[in-house]
Amino acid sequence: MMEIKHLHPSLHAILLLEEEARINKIQQDSWIGYSRAQCIIAKLEDLLIYPRVIRMPNLLIVGDTNNGKTILANRFFVSHKPYLREADQSFIAPIVYCQAPPKPDEKRFYNNLLDSLFVPYRVSDRVEHKQQQLLNVLRRMETKMLIIDEIHHILAGNLAAQRIFLNVIKYLANELRIVIVGVGTKDALAAINTDPQLSNRFEPVILPKWTMNEEYLRLLASMEYLTPLKKPSNLVEYNMSQCILGMSEGTIGEISTVIKKAAILAIKQGTEQISRKILDSIDYIPPSERKKHFESY
Ligand SMILES: Nc1ncnc2c1ncn2[C@@H]1O[C@H](COP(=O)(O)OP(=O)(O)O)[C@@H](O)[C@H]1O
Ligand SMILES: [Mg+2]
Repeated sequence: MMEIKHLHPSLHAILLLEEEARINKIQQDSWIGYSRAQCIIAKLEDLLIYPRVIRMPNLLIVGDTNNGKTILANRFFVSHKPYLREADQSFIAPIVYCQAPPKPDEKRFYNNLLDSLFVPYRVSDRVEHKQQQLLNVLRRMETKMLIIDEIHHILAGNLAAQRIFLNVIKYLANELRIVIVGVGTKDALAAINTDPQLSNRFEPVILPKWTMNEEYLRLLASMEYLTPLKKPSNLVEYNMSQCILGMSEGTIGEISTVIKKAAILAIKQGTEQISRKILDSIDYIPPSERKKHFESY
């Protein structure tokens, strides 16, 4: 019997599968409930049952790109999915999740929202009409929370555009008495801080970059536990953890990419464990270098 204490029991059977199946497993998304994420989810749960008051509290989840914001918001959303209420056959959507359009365009913002609710609309309708339509739908679906991902896209425009969207958000929150959860980069936080009324109502919660501490080592240990390699890699060992942090530059998305690439190489080379040598051999360019490369074009 193979020594497999280093793996989650659900993966033991996967170890017996062919390379390809194991690689496929590694490439899939898996959720790790690190403590900051759990803490934010607990906050979201509290907000979802908040009574409808005149001034609803809002939340702004702030973090760098690729640091787990969307995955987190999505995880919360799918745990409170829309459903058909038996009693009156109404379609209820406790949470509505949408992505802000890439530019601060009010009409496209409403279009995106109506799309995410599968509500048909006429593209040519006036913006006021769309806004009204949206309010009606959200009331009918008894929506309690609106999550706007990539909110910096609509808040980081010029000042005039920013004003418009800050007012849109205020209007939706006031009319519907729903919780607004913004998700975005620190540009969004800066924009919200320009409006004293909103900055009072938006509590910022930060997903900081990962640094060398216990929480980071726990993350590595969890990632290793969920990676179907036949031998333990001991990623928490100082040299390895330091190396992964340096390569990834501290976002969870890059940390995960480095480990996935290394695990796949370890399978292909037959070493079945991630080592410093494997980390040095993977085909991986750190994000800052990718950026430089891109900017030189
Ligand atoms: N809780 C998590 N557990 C495991 N991997 C995660 C987690 N959160 C994020 N990731 C990884 O990080 C990547 C980027 O996350 P994402 O939420 O899209 O970042 P953001 O929205 O901040 O740009 C994901 O594709 C996933 O690989
Ligand atoms: Mg995102």
